[in-house]
Amino acid sequence: MLRISFGAIIIAGVLALGFAGFRGAKSDLTHVEWFNDMAHQPKFQPQHRNDLFADGRAARLPVPGTIPIGLTLPGRQDGTGGSNTGGTFTFAPDYLNTGRMGTVYGDGIPAQLAAKGHDLLRRGRERYDINCAHCHGSTGAGDGVVKAFGMMTVASLLNEPNVAQPDGKIFNTITHGRSTMGAHGPVITVEDRWAIVAYVRALQKAGSGKLAVAPAATATPEKK
Ligand code: HEC
Repeated sequence: MLRISFGAIIIAGVLALGFAGFRGAKSDLTHVEWFNDMAHQPKFQPQHRNDLFADGRAARLPVPGTIPIGLTLPGRQDGTGGSNTGGTFTFAPDYLNTGRMGTVYGDGIPAQLAAKGHDLLRRGRERYDINCAHCHGSTGAGDGVVKAFGMMTVASLLNEPNVAQPDGKIFNTITHGRSTMGAHGPVITVEDRWAIVAYVRALQKAGSGKLAVAPAATATPEKK
């Protein structure tokens, strides 16, 4: 039995070599590709034809109204141009766009956005509830619905290390994510990321349990 299997293996090896030849061996025979060589990839290259589309072009134009990830429309930020509504996506290196001041994280909401006051917080609450609450919980306590499905490492935003972080660092975490938390920079505009930061700050104040941080009207004990 053993002898037969040995023989079969040797014959199979010789046959394989006979068909495939040695690497680098030259031959006049037509080259057979068992599966595509790297030089022949089943993909459309720029300027190639593709009859799937009515215009026969393989390269498609961007869908009207979309912004490529990482790009910004000139003038969008200061309201002087840009046709897309809803905010800016950009990698510009300033504080507004990175949360960094040089090599350190800055603190504070950028002035042009802070000027929006309560509107910014309202927007932040809405965006937080959409983008963050399923993980971090609607109060920021880290008890979002995903916990029940096994995502145990979601951080509480009310913990001291997170409270102590500068605003720029939270902005950066939203933009780029952190370990199991994905990057939200590509899907949440710069303005909305700051709005969320402002709202996270409000949640932290609300969750601190200290009366001192509550507005005066609610800080006074109720009169019986
Ligand atoms: C898919 C679930 C998920 C979503 C959505 C999510 N996070 Fe997180 N987040 C996590 C996890 C998990 C961690 C802990 C990461 C780690 O292990 O350090 C975390 C950590 C953080 C931290 C702490 C980072 C640090 O330095 O320790 C902040 C701040 C934060 N998230 C804010 C947000 C905000 C704001 C949003 C909404 C834009 C958001 N996260 C959306 C899962 C999520």
